[in-house]
Amino acid sequence: MRISFTPIGTIHTPYMDTAPYQPVEEDKGDFRIVLDPAYQAGLWKLERFRYIYVIYYIHSLTRGPEIHVRPSWAGGVEVGVFASRSPLRPNPIGLSIVRLKKIEENVIYTSGLDVFDGTPLLDIKPYIRDLDSKGDANYGWIEDLEDRDHLLLHIKGIPHEY
Ligand SMILES: C[S@@+](CC[C@H](N)C(=O)[O-])C[C@H]1O[C@@H](n2cnc3c(N)ncnc32)[C@H](O)[C@@H]1O
Repeated sequence: MRISFTPIGTIHTPYMDTAPYQPVEEDKGDFRIVLDPAYQAGLWKLERFRYIYVIYYIHSLTRGPEIHVRPSWAGGVEVGVFASRSPLRPNPIGLSIVRLKKIEENVIYTSGLDVFDGTPLLDIKPYIRDLDSKGDANYGWIEDLEDRDHLLLHIKGIPHEY
């Protein structure tokens, strides 16, 4: 079976060819999602939510999928692609949770996104308290990393002294 999607908008960020590994909420710059005006009515009441899921096609990869990956922040550890957030996946679909700042017509202003400017938007969903946050979530294999707390600062893009 083949599935094909049509983008419903475009994500704009200050990033041309490098971006944070995950969204950095305090990131400075202009982060905007421009929705195809045909779908603008679908934004009705979205502004009531503080956070949203942004789902997109990671469109300008220069390498194909990998079954084992070494996340760049993880000090050389190798894991299966599905145990990672690597963009080099069989279906390069990205998911970012960001703060919704405001909506003006078909434009959604958000906190920092970890994607290149021009990334095609596939979907937007509200992030719902209790439904979406799991109090007993853990760090998976990241728990085994010796330097875990320090490496987590890298994933979260938090500036720190090395
Ligand atoms: C590690 S992925 C994580 C994406 C998303 N937060 C997730 O967990 O699904 C983020 C990285 O993908 C790369 N990237 C972002 N947008 C891209 C695009 N449109 N085309 C190719 N690579 C992209 C950047 O190197 C960025 O650091």
